Amino acid sequence: MCGIVGYVGWRSVQDVVVGGLRKLEYRGYDSAGIAALAGGQVCAVKSVGRLANLEARLAAQPLDGSVGIGHTRWATHGRPSDENAHPHLDCGGRFAIVHNGIVENYLTLRAELLQRGHVFQSETDTEVIAHLMEELYDGDLVSTTLNVVRRIRGAYALVVLHRDDPERLIAVRRSSPLVIGLGQGEQFIASDIPAILEYTRDVYVLDDGELAVVRRDGVECFTLSGEPVNKQPFHVTWDAVAAERGGYAHFMLKEIHEQPRAIRDTLTGRVADDHARVILPELNWSPEVAAGIRRIHIVACGTAWHAGLVGKAVLEQLVRIPVEVDIASEYRYRDVIAPEGTLVMVISQSGETADTLAALRAAKARGNRVLAITNVVGSSVAREADDVIVTWAGPEIAVASTKAYTTQLVALYLFATYLAQERGMLRGDEVRALLTALDSLPQAAEQVLDTAPQIQQFARRYAGVHDTFFIGRGLDYPLALEGALKLKEISYIHAEAYAAGELKHGTLALVTDGVPVIALVTQTHLYDKTLSNIKEVKARGAYVLGLTFVGDEQLAESVDEVIYLPRTLPLVAPAVAVIPLQLLAYYAAVERGNDVDKPRNLAKSVTVE
Ligand code: F6R
Repeated sequence: MCGIVGYVGWRSVQDVVVGGLRKLEYRGYDSAGIAALAGGQVCAVKSVGRLANLEARLAAQPLDGSVGIGHTRWATHGRPSDENAHPHLDCGGRFAIVHNGIVENYLTLRAELLQRGHVFQSETDTEVIAHLMEELYDGDLVSTTLNVVRRIRGAYALVVLHRDDPERLIAVRRSSPLVIGLGQGEQFIASDIPAILEYTRDVYVLDDGELAVVRRDGVECFTLSGEPVNKQPFHVTWDAVAAERGGYAHFMLKEIHEQPRAIRDTLTGRVADDHARVILPELNWSPEVAAGIRRIHIVACGTAWHAGLVGKAVLEQLVRIPVEVDIASEYRYRDVIAPEGTLVMVISQSGETADTLAALRAAKARGNRVLAITNVVGSSVAREADDVIVTWAGPEIAVASTKAYTTQLVALYLFATYLAQERGMLRGDEVRALLTALDSLPQAAEQVLDTAPQIQQFARRYAGVHDTFFIGRGLDYPLALEGALKLKEISYIHAEAYAAGELKHGTLALVTDGVPVIALVTQTHLYDKTLSNIKEVKARGAYVLGLTFVGDEQLAESVDEVIYLPRTLPLVAPAVAVIPLQLLAYYAAVERGNDVDKPRNLAKSVTVE
């Protein structure tokens, strides 16, 4: 997500902060900015676009001083622009704020602050923090910051600079990462270690709910209730390249492990605290719009298309309207029947995929309403769609999509529940059960990551095979498609996904002694049917790895190995069950010595037809 750099010391703040931001460029961003204390004033310079644009402005208007903060922004609330770039200032220009994450209750706070006469310069959620600092300032920067964070809900990392307290910066962490680099007569703050590795290898890694007071001569840490915390420095031994990957061997592995956070962020602010409602303020649909949808076309490519297949089943089950799912390169040339009342949904991580964009444009030209699910706020898809639900996965760098897929699923669950709720299709207890299950997904995703050693062992044994099959029924079928695609694209092992009941219509001929079959068994109502299909492949000599919920003792009797998932509603199971499949592809690719993050013949964003 966004990159943060802060500095208190004796060097040129401009050099340290811009240099640090450059080291965070790999995370992706759409604008950048810096604020420094110079001549008793807070001076800020910001620019949309690349860091080079910011540097050009700084060349014309250099920032003196040795205390300051900087930021590279990955837009969430408000399009990429100079105004929406961080740092954000209060009305009096005394506070400057950089922020990574989401202020969930910013609309309420913004309305309150507007009423009290504050004037806003941006569309961001972050700006409320600057005005709230101004509003609540009691003469002490630490107690004011503590009071402000008590008022804001959500996940964030935050750094505060104050004109009247020029010797220190305040850093706060709730969910989004933040480290403090320890130096001699100088200290650093960063959202990620590479930003400061040039200057120090000793860092405090802030834990959730901690605040650091950062001065030239030292750092003190506190809990959010103001209790001192005795932190032990962590010595970084990674080289600069490994540091960019947070110590993981590849971006893909890092991104797989980021899924609990990415799912949590995508849910943030969209589920009422009592789990009684989905809130999607970005849609702002009148009851007539929700009621007027008669059918839905979902259009996407690759992994996003697989998310669409799950979306179809979920929408049809919850909303009871027909949903078609199309591959964008087919849809754009097909003689589509999309009469009035057709909602076209496009799903795209990058928001720039040529075929998806063309399908969107064709739908708009026909007069269909287009709703986009995308990970990139300023992307073409986001700009051209009528409505957008943003997934807050953060930049995805590995070519193989992982956290974008799980957050696309979360966005689809939220939208389907929202539409069902607006059309009165669900009882209160049904909504609550669904939203409780969604809310527990981040924790379930954490737990499922513990299966990594088992999967690594399996991958070691099977990395030499030529063919493999993924089978499943119901929602386990699109899950099988995604598992097979992941394995193909990075391990180069041929993998086929089959609706388990379809095998005997031809493909079963390929299942012979020792052929690995990954059998997905998360759809309880189809359990017995899938079990019969597993027996069919076992009888032909397949080596079967089964995936089921913990507590299922029966499956182990019919397969060779089982991976157990934490229990959840079958409807939301794909968001958790895909994680072992991603790990399987990852470890198989590593075992075969492949370039995991940049597989052959593939690009991250397919902007040509
Ligand atoms: C597979 C993968 C691709 C993308 C597809 C669509 O791991 O990443 O299949 O899902 O190229 O890309 P977006 O979502 O950017 O439109």
